[in-house]
Amino acid sequence: MSVEAIAAAAKSPETAREGFGFYVHVPFCVSRCGYCDFNTYTAAELGRGEFSVPSGSGGGGRRVGVSRETYAGIVRAEIRAAAAMFEAVPRVDTVFFGGGTPTLLPASDLAAILAEIDAAFGLAPGAEVTTEANPESVDASYLAELHDSGFNRLSVGMQSTAPHVLKVLDREHSPAKALAAVDHARQAGFEHVSLDLIYGTPGETEADFAASLAAAAGSGADHVSAYALIVEDGTRLARRIRSGQVPQPSDDVAADRYLAAEAALSEAGFSWYEVSNWAKTPEARCRHNLLYWEGGHWWGAGPGAHSHLPGVRWWNHKHPSTYAAALAEDIPLAGCEILSSDEAYLERILLRTRLSVGLPVSWLRTDGAAAAQQVVADGLAVIEGGRLLLTLRGRLLADAVVRELTA
Ligand SMILES: C[S@@+](CC[C@H](N)C(=O)[O-])C[C@H]1O[C@@H](n2cnc3c(N)ncnc32)[C@H](O)[C@@H]1O
Ligand code: SF4
Repeated sequence: MSVEAIAAAAKSPETAREGFGFYVHVPFCVSRCGYCDFNTYTAAELGRGEFSVPSGSGGGGRRVGVSRETYAGIVRAEIRAAAAMFEAVPRVDTVFFGGGTPTLLPASDLAAILAEIDAAFGLAPGAEVTTEANPESVDASYLAELHDSGFNRLSVGMQSTAPHVLKVLDREHSPAKALAAVDHARQAGFEHVSLDLIYGTPGETEADFAASLAAAAGSGADHVSAYALIVEDGTRLARRIRSGQVPQPSDDVAADRYLAAEAALSEAGFSWYEVSNWAKTPEARCRHNLLYWEGGHWWGAGPGAHSHLPGVRWWNHKHPSTYAAALAEDIPLAGCEILSSDEAYLERILLRTRLSVGLPVSWLRTDGAAAAQQVVADGLAVIEGGRLLLTLRGRLLADAVVRELTA
């Protein structure tokens, strides 16, 4: 049933109407940062890269090798299987390699995966092609090779410039490495470069975060993402907090840090366009993430990757070996859901409210429109040109605003 639903959605004329994206997940990291619960594996966790695949998981009992060496070939097979689902393949407007750490693969592997997407689907002229990068994993020649093969946007995980903050986060790089990556990317010709920051880490002072913001703003990057540290269940950070080794991050401190980010970044010429994202120009906004937030359509390749075509969402098997085994037989589908109109409504309101372009009030149902008036009366938003626009205080309380609108 699920594969048929995807095949039907792939034939829908709506598929490419709003632009089409391609996400490639690369599930490898040198070591796991203590706060991170992304679907990623260190070499030790992957062992020798060969696994017995449990029966009933799509690969019944076979041994499948998944390693950094074999990965590009495996994911290219999914790209070909994806294209075969369409009668007329949509052209790809944005490609995003995320992880994990995509830049742990040789640049030639990322180039080969991108070339496979181009061959199977076709990249639109001016397509945005991003890869995430850990600062330790890139140097000038690597970035030059990536740029030559068609990558034009780099997103670097800087997190902080304070060594003691990086230590609490288990980040292995020096602060200078992230800034050097921005320089190298610019020299290589990357059109857009983004830095990720994390704020509210236990032990981080106001001055530490101000220094991180100043470094990011002056680095030559034209995009900054700043995220409050989230303590995810099952992470090393969560265990250290539970055992009292590290204090719990404070919501009040996180709110202060957010205000500091807005002040410093707007002073440096950046404007927010999503609650956690700032860009120097409209062109520097991440088109791929905008496609997600605006309800666009994309194929996600790789273990655990999610995809969305008209009315249907699905996700791949999470473990690399199970994924590879399932892929040997069909598209590596683990689960699929057909969105009900209520679910689609909630998602649309949730994503759109967080954007600076604002939520068209006409999208709201009767209760939501009444709640919008209250949100405005509380100073959390204004209505201009028929759109609900969050105020700065509303951005701090964006989740609560969405709850009000959809209650
Ligand atoms: C896949 S990583 C970026 C690339 C590369 N793996 C790296 O870390 O340098 C995506 C980003 O998510 C953010 N992130 C991950 N886990 C987080 C958490 N628990 N709280 C806040 N931000 C988090 C970090 O800013 C990180 O840079
Ligand atoms: S390097 Fe990035 S993906 Fe890997 S564990 Fe750290 S934050 Fe997560």
